[in-house]
Amino acid sequence: MTAVVFERYGSPDVLSLQTVPRPFPSNGEVRVKVHASTVNRTDTATLRAHPFFARAMTGLMRPKMRILGMDFAGEIDLLGEGVGAFEVGDRVFGISPDSFGAHAEYLCMPSDGAIAHISERLPYHQAVVGEGAWYANGTTQILSEGKRCLIYGASGAIGTAAVQLAKARGAHVTAVVGTRHIDLPGPLGADRVVNYETEDFTNLGETFDLVFDAVGKTSFFECRHLLTEDGIFSATDLGPGWSNIILSAFYGATGSGRVRIPFPEDAPGFIRHLAGLISKGKYHGVFDRRVAFDDITEAFRYVETGQKTGIVVIDIC
Ligand SMILES: NC(=O)c1ccc[n+]([C@@H]2O[C@H](COP(=O)([O-])OP(=O)(O)OC[C@H]3O[C@@H](n4cnc5c(N)ncnc54)[C@H](OP(=O)(O)O)[C@@H]3O)[C@@H](O)[C@H]2O)c1
Repeated sequence: MTAVVFERYGSPDVLSLQTVPRPFPSNGEVRVKVHASTVNRTDTATLRAHPFFARAMTGLMRPKMRILGMDFAGEIDLLGEGVGAFEVGDRVFGISPDSFGAHAEYLCMPSDGAIAHISERLPYHQAVVGEGAWYANGTTQILSEGKRCLIYGASGAIGTAAVQLAKARGAHVTAVVGTRHIDLPGPLGADRVVNYETEDFTNLGETFDLVFDAVGKTSFFECRHLLTEDGIFSATDLGPGWSNIILSAFYGATGSGRVRIPFPEDAPGFIRHLAGLISKGKYHGVFDRRVAFDDITEAFRYVETGQKTGIVVIDIC
């Protein structure tokens, strides 16, 4: 099969299209013929081993996995022994957060992993919505009916997901975006949209139960007066001078959890939850562009600019 392989950490130049053996499903696994994947910020960060301590998980000197790609959508083409939940030909989507591997024509997944059915009506290229949503859910899962949240950077993969997941939990959502995205968060469910280029989002005259920096461009110190007494500042990034790491350790130790960098958990449970939201029409991906498999290196370069809107799709088959 054709796959995009990387043997060492580095820029997108280290990626190459190669012919590699098709994976064979072990007991309890399914093999997916991958129709679509994405290039996302997890892929680009893993490619460059950024931050450097991520190497503890992905391989100290060289990457343990040779094929990136966390999101996939496709059809089951082979079953391992003992698989009951899927049949050959089933249409599925999901994420492979531990072993990646979706930048390839075939991918094996545990049948009890982060994989779920999609309907006939959903095209594969619109089903690769897992990565940003999973990270967003790590934060939005603390919300409940009537809570008020501010989502800073509501135009990226995580931000567009966070608006919808917060809304699905019944929260009141204020979304902060730049001018070119001003019409994006409203249809996703945002109650209020603030333009960070023309308005001071730190001076809105209200406080929030949650301020979520979904693009790593603000800080706890800039936002703390936006928080209610028990309010939480959550971020996807380390923060200036690693401040989010330091503060999350400090507030974790005090027991308040006021600053958090949540690591998302329970990918299988979340993907099944997301499949339910999608089938009820309560969640849909926001897509920037579709890129041919052969041009995946260009997709990596584009995603690294930090300027994409939502998700960059790779058409694999
Ligand atoms: N913790 C983890 O393991 C993990 C995993 C994945 C991603 N991340 C991090 O999470 C962040 C978000 O990932 P993502 O995939 O959602 O990002 P993304 O899709 O690359 O976000 C890009 C968006 O951010 C907007 N943006 C850029 N500068 C901004 C600013 N100063 N203020 C507000 N918006 C701004 C851009 O639009 P405009 O420039 O037009 O505003 C663009 O639409 C990244 O920083 C990434 O490193 C962390």
